[in-house]
Amino acid sequence: MPERQLNGRYTSVAVTLHWLVALFIIYNLVQGLLFSDDTPRSAVELHKSIGITVIGLFVLRFLWKLGHPGPAPLPSLKPWERKLSVSAHHLLYLLMVFVPLAGWLHDSAWKGAATHPLMLYGVIPWFRIPLFGGLTDAGKDWWHENLFTVHKYSSWVLIGIVGLHIAGALKHQFLDHQPQFRRMWYGK
Ligand code: HEM
Ligand code: HEM
Repeated sequence: MPERQLNGRYTSVAVTLHWLVALFIIYNLVQGLLFSDDTPRSAVELHKSIGITVIGLFVLRFLWKLGHPGPAPLPSLKPWERKLSVSAHHLLYLLMVFVPLAGWLHDSAWKGAATHPLMLYGVIPWFRIPLFGGLTDAGKDWWHENLFTVHKYSSWVLIGIVGLHIAGALKHQFLDHQPQFRRMWYGK
């Protein structure tokens, strides 16, 4: 078993990945909720690029976590707070990959996919998930629509858990006066 960090902090790599992913996810959630018929195509393309980047960062984060489990939980946490925060972290790990994967599947089932190649940040040619090629247009429409529903509702669950996570962090820092934020920041 790899050892826990003994200085009460996550490693700099974990901190960098945490805040990059948090920034990207919050940007995509806000941008996604603001989508309308007038949203320019470039904004949707940026949304897809950022979401696929989050999948890559998730893989790095997961691999890093295997060797660096992070510090022991704050000793001041009551047992229910500890259980709730660990469950929220597990759900966040799950949703941070599930939500963008559902979006990517939704986009891959689009019948216009073949004529609109995916280009990350307008420069890196990227692939669609090759599951829908053999379907008729009606079959693609069905998957496109239903996978959008999955993408949308899982995003809403993600918003709820992120809200709980932020509320928990603020409570420990400001109401319980615990060194909560320094755990997820750089330092010795
Ligand atoms: C989309 C946004 C976010 C996601 C997906 C996310 C995800 C996570 C995950 C999975 C962990 C557990 C790390 C581990 O043990 O491996 C964590 C820890 C943490 N996060 Fe976030 N986070 C997000 C946003 C935020 C924000 C906005 C704050 C600040 C208010 C924050 C503060 C923290 C802190 C302080 C910890 C350390 C918890 C501890 O072990 O004491 N996070 N986050
Ligand atoms: C961090 C990851 C992501 C988050 C948090 C996210 C969140 C959202 C949200 C909240 C919406 C709006 C849903 C609604 O209308 O209520 C949305 C729409 C959408 N998402 Fe994502 N998404 C992510 C990744 C992706 C990825 C990777 C793709 C495709 C490669 C994608 C493709 C789309 C598309 C095509 C729409 C519909 C845009 C339109 O209305 O034209 N998303 N997303």
